[in-house]
Amino acid sequence: MPTTVVVGAQWGDEGKGKIVDLMCAHVDIVARYQGGANAGHTVVIEGKKTILHLIPSGILQKDCVCILGAGMVIDPAKLLEEIDNLEKGGVSVVGRLFISHQAHLIMPYHKVLDELNERDLGSKAIGVTGRGIGPAYTDKYTRVGIRIVDLLDPELFREKLDANITAKNRLINELHHEPVIDRDAILNYYLDFDRRIDPLVKDVSVYLNDALDQGKTVLCEGAQGTLLDIDWGTYPYVTSSHPTAGGAVIGLGIGPTRIDTVVGVIKAYTTRVGSGPFPTEFDQPLADQMREAGGEFGATTGRARRCGWFDAVIARYSTRVNGVGSWALTKLDVLSVLPNIKICVAYEAGGKRFEQFPSESKVIKDCVPVYEEWPGWSKPINDARRVEDLPIEARRYIERIEELTARPVGIISVGSDRNETIIRN
Ligand code: IMP
Repeated sequence: MPTTVVVGAQWGDEGKGKIVDLMCAHVDIVARYQGGANAGHTVVIEGKKTILHLIPSGILQKDCVCILGAGMVIDPAKLLEEIDNLEKGGVSVVGRLFISHQAHLIMPYHKVLDELNERDLGSKAIGVTGRGIGPAYTDKYTRVGIRIVDLLDPELFREKLDANITAKNRLINELHHEPVIDRDAILNYYLDFDRRIDPLVKDVSVYLNDALDQGKTVLCEGAQGTLLDIDWGTYPYVTSSHPTAGGAVIGLGIGPTRIDTVVGVIKAYTTRVGSGPFPTEFDQPLADQMREAGGEFGATTGRARRCGWFDAVIARYSTRVNGVGSWALTKLDVLSVLPNIKICVAYEAGGKRFEQFPSESKVIKDCVPVYEEWPGWSKPINDARRVEDLPIEARRYIERIEELTARPVGIISVGSDRNETIIRN
């Protein structure tokens, strides 16, 4: 398929990094369309672990071109750190990494405001990653944001920075009583950053549309997950961008008619980081057991993830709002630690049964899952390379997910390494 969108179908951390890494062996270009360094992709190749926050994991495939799209918010320090680490590890980004001139910049005051906003929310805090994401998108939508293209004109950059610093320092100092941010240090740092990334800046819409016209294949990579989408997630406990498949079109400047298929990445159980509703969340001691078994600690913040049973209501919702064509089911091996496995097939709240995910946060909060219980397989499955190698109980679990979502599972991940994977189609 010339253009595929890979989208997280839950609350992020579904294992998209590994799936994108596998798929990009077969594509020419991987283009990330939203978010920033709040994401964290872990890719393990022959035991060597690489964690990326901004650059798509496609950079580890030597012939793949990687794009950072216009819908992203870019933290210069993180980007340079990733480029340096990749180059130290022998992975060159020259001629293979391009950044949209329309992407917005994360500024130091965004990170400060992110923390201060959380502090103000007290017990209602979102549980943000602290990477400045919300404040950067706020500036974008209030039309005062600073973009990569602004760096190319130092006078304009200085002007925009001055206006922003004055406004932000007023908030930081007068409202929150925290020390003001030094304008000169920012100015010099960002102009230096520009000198380094200048050769990488491109009009990615032109680049991608030309590439598609020439018959090249593009994988559009979403970060976070469907239920963290600013419109389609569990608002207000969401991120500030569009991880859903529609975000690819907006964030990359390609038309909807150019998208051929959407692969939903879905974990064999559910996790979420930060606050907000989570109907199938485990109680203790299961929560700790699964967190340890699945290594469920954030790649970006190291925070412990909340864990729960697979939720088919959410999977159906993700199918609908993303137009998922097939699933990549991840971390199936982690369920080997459980004697029995539950799947949530519907919710009940206020005497009503919900087959579809309710859109009102007040209702979601009160939803009680309706479970089916399936026997587990209680043995390691990391060596399985074909569906037939899986225990019958694991095969039944996959079939049940397919029935409940009316979508096939095309890829099954049975371990963190690139080769611990079953590819069906
Ligand atoms: P922000 O994106 O830092 O503003 O955080 C908003 C919410 O999204 C918080 O609950 C975060 O924990 C969550 N979040 C942001 N990025 C990710 C991610 O990559 N994986 C999982 N959760 C995330």
